[in-house]
Amino acid sequence: HLDRGTILPEWHTPPAVARELARARPPRRQRGLVVFFTGLSGSGKSTMATGLADVLLETGERTVTLLDGDIVRRHLSAGLGFSAEDRDTNVRRIGWVAAEAARHGGVAICCPIAPYRDARAAARQFAHNAGAGFVLVHVSTPLAECERRDRKGLYAKARAGIIKGMTGIDDPYEEPLDAELTIDTTDRSQGEAVTTVLRYLGSNGWLD
Ligand code: PPS
Repeated sequence: HLDRGTILPEWHTPPAVARELARARPPRRQRGLVVFFTGLSGSGKSTMATGLADVLLETGERTVTLLDGDIVRRHLSAGLGFSAEDRDTNVRRIGWVAAEAARHGGVAICCPIAPYRDARAAARQFAHNAGAGFVLVHVSTPLAECERRDRKGLYAKARAGIIKGMTGIDDPYEEPLDAELTIDTTDRSQGEAVTTVLRYLGSNGWLD
């Protein structure tokens, strides 16, 4: 019986159970991992994703799956457009496939715009359900810089009203509140940006 006003100790995992759990779960460097880049078109996501994949392929013992944006939309998400619903479906599919690729210890790297928090959260959940880690990298290069680059000419078309629903112009981008890393590529080379991600992964135990 507890008196009113008694301060209850915080609930905790008993040490024996914690030891058992730690045994059941391999260390991070042996677990699968999803590295999920999100950001505006032209923010530098794909360049970073490709650079990271190249380094991991060269140095690592893990399998690397790169879910490149163009390829995803040509195959896995063929037929989908850019409505909120289609973007949601696209991002959930990417998250699901990435989690499967990471299920047995591989690293999956994806780089969709992924403008909605819910769909990104679903991708995180898929990874966790597969026993893999999930690192969200917000490529936070501001719209002005993405628009200045305008590699595909899409921003100019959106400003001219030729295309509708361009993320950042007349379609939303919900800034992540749960990113493990935030990187603005305005004044950073691809190499520097990739090094930042590698340092994060290394210092958090995801790489040897
Ligand atoms: S999403 O929102 O995550 O489903 O988008 P994603 O699959 O990453 O596709 C983004 C690329 O499609 C091109 N594109 C558009 N982007 C944003 N809004 C609109 N309306 C749009 N229409 C076509 C654009 O080139 C994106 O490429 P990236 O590599 O991001 O620049």
